[in-house]
Amino acid sequence: MQSDPIIEIREVSFRYQNQKQPVIQGISASFYPGTVSLICGPTGSGKTTLIRLMNGLIPHFYEGNMTGDVTIDGINTKSTSTAKLAQIVGMVFQNPDNQLVCSTCEREIAFGPENLGLPRSEIKERLESAIKVLGIESIRDSSPNELSGGQKQKVAIAAALALKPKILVFDEPSSNLDIESTARLVDTIEMINTKLHATIIIVEHRLEPFLRIATHLVCIADGKILLHGETANVINDDVFYDIGVQVPVLLKIFHQLARENIYNGPIPIETKPGMELLKKML
Ligand SMILES: Nc1ncnc2c1ncn2[C@@H]1O[C@H](COP(=O)(O)OP(=O)(O)OP(=O)(O)O)[C@@H](O)[C@H]1O
Ligand SMILES: [Mg+2]
Repeated sequence: MQSDPIIEIREVSFRYQNQKQPVIQGISASFYPGTVSLICGPTGSGKTTLIRLMNGLIPHFYEGNMTGDVTIDGINTKSTSTAKLAQIVGMVFQNPDNQLVCSTCEREIAFGPENLGLPRSEIKERLESAIKVLGIESIRDSSPNELSGGQKQKVAIAAALALKPKILVFDEPSSNLDIESTARLVDTIEMINTKLHATIIIVEHRLEPFLRIATHLVCIADGKILLHGETANVINDDVFYDIGVQVPVLLKIFHQLARENIYNGPIPIETKPGMELLKKML
C-alpha cells in the first residue's frame, strides 16, 4: 500500500501582487516520503515560486493571491507559521553566502536548533550529527568566509539538517559549483535521502548530474506541470524533449535514434551505461 503524500498541492494558483498574470496556474501534485524529485523548466516558469508554496513563504511572506491548498506532512500551510514549517521543510539555496551569517561553521549549524530553544544536550547532539553526516569535521571552527563554494554549501546543508527536516529542498544547488563539487553534492544528497530517509526536492537547470538519483521528474512550463512521473517514464516521453530544458546530450541522441526507429529500447538514464550501449550500437 502506498503511503500518504508528504507534500500535497491541490489546485493551486498564485499571482504575485504586482503581477497581472498568475505565475502558478492550477497545479496539483503529490510527492511521497523518501522520493527524490527533480523539478525542471525554463527560466521564469515558476519553479522557485512552487518551492515558496512548499515552505509557506507563500502565502505568509510574499503577497499576492493564492487559491487552492498545500499540505505538508498533513499540515495546511495556510494555517501554519513559516517557523513551524521550517522544522519540516529545510531549504538550501543556490548561493550559500546569503544563508551563512555566523562567525564559525559550528555556530552556523547550531543556530537553528538554538533558536528553537532546544536543550543544550539536544543542540550538541544535532550539531555533531550534522557535522558527521556532511564530513566537515576539519572546518567546524573555520569562518564560512574562508571556505570554497562546495564547502559553504555543505555547511548550509548541515545547518538545514540540524533542524531535522523531513523534507529538504534545494533551489539550483549546482549553479555556483564546478563539475566535481556538483558530483560530490549529488552524492551528499543521495546519502541524506538513503540514510536519513529525507524526502528531497531539487530544482535544477543542469539535469545531467542529478538524474542518477532522481526517482521522479517534474517538468514545468508557464506555471503548469506538463510532466510528472517516475524518471524512466518522463525521459521516454516526447514532451520532455520539447519543453526547453537542458536535456543531457546522451538522452537527446537516444531520443532521436528512437524517433528514427534505429533504437527501440528504453532511454538510459545514466551516462556510463548509456555510453556503452551507444558504443555497441555503432
Ligand atoms: N517576488 C516576486 N514578485 C513578483 N514577481 C515575481 C516574484 N518572484 C518571481 N516573480 C515572477 O514570477 C515568475 C516566475 O518566477 P520564478 O522565480 O518562480 O521562476 P523560476 O522558474 O524559478 O525561474 P529561474 O529558472 O530563473 O529561477 C517570473 O515571471 C518572475 O518574474
Ligand atoms: Mg528559480
